[in-house]
Amino acid sequence: MDWEAFFTVHSDLPREGPGEAADVAWALDLAGVPEGAAICDAGAGAGGDVASLLTVPGARVLAIDTYPGFVAQMQARFAGEDRVEVEEADMADLAAHPAGPFDLIWCAGALYFLGLEEGLARMGAALKPGGVLAFTEPCFFTPAPSEAAVGFWEGYPTRDAAGIANAVAAAGYDSLGARALGDGAWEAYFAPMEARIETLRPGADAALAAMLDLCAGEAAQWRQVRRETGYLLTVARWRG
Ligand SMILES: C[S@@+](CC[C@H](N)C(=O)[O-])C[C@H]1O[C@@H](n2cnc3c(N)ncnc32)[C@H](O)[C@@H]1O
Repeated sequence: MDWEAFFTVHSDLPREGPGEAADVAWALDLAGVPEGAAICDAGAGAGGDVASLLTVPGARVLAIDTYPGFVAQMQARFAGEDRVEVEEADMADLAAHPAGPFDLIWCAGALYFLGLEEGLARMGAALKPGGVLAFTEPCFFTPAPSEAAVGFWEGYPTRDAAGIANAVAAAGYDSLGARALGDGAWEAYFAPMEARIETLRPGADAALAAMLDLCAGEAAQWRQVRRETGYLLTVARWRG
């Protein structure tokens, strides 16, 4: 991966993965997050969900990411918002963070970097007993996904909704609900990225041109397989 070219495309986008405010609202409603809650946005990227998380009255949001460029972007984006703390940190170590334990961990498009079982365990250790994890996970929506749908996740061991639910229960959570992200959530990610790609095309060198094709290809590929696979948003209470 040419990271320089990757971040030329991805810097200063409103979000770094699929998602929309309605999904955060749905999750908050299911979770029944208390006023003044301690919330962590784990793998927050550009911080695209932070404003929605702040709709919980009096809540404090710790937004963490391992990529310094996204952290700097969030620090600028939320400067002056005293209910938001932004930090370069690894979510694998979240249980040791002084801002925790958390009432809610929101983890959009990021838990799978740890792997599902490992991610569920690490997030559980950082939650208060009875705290809630809301996360999105690659999911097949059909029992026989096409080669293209399988290939979309580049070797990740993608499961169906029942497989994800089983892992959630086995890890010590009670599921409060699960639903697939809608097309609008994916377009909220892809549309600004595609606009960026078009502005970068003229004069792009070979490395950047290859990255533009790769990123444009991701959006095209998703549109091809979107009925077969996508993200499942699960909201689950940690039994502690
Ligand atoms: C697909 S992006 C999603 C970003 C954001 N949640 C969103 O939906 O816009 C995944 C993010 O997880 C971050 N990430 C990956 N592994 C991480 C880890 N171990 N700890 C914290 N952040 C991580 C990446 O740097 C990236 O910004």
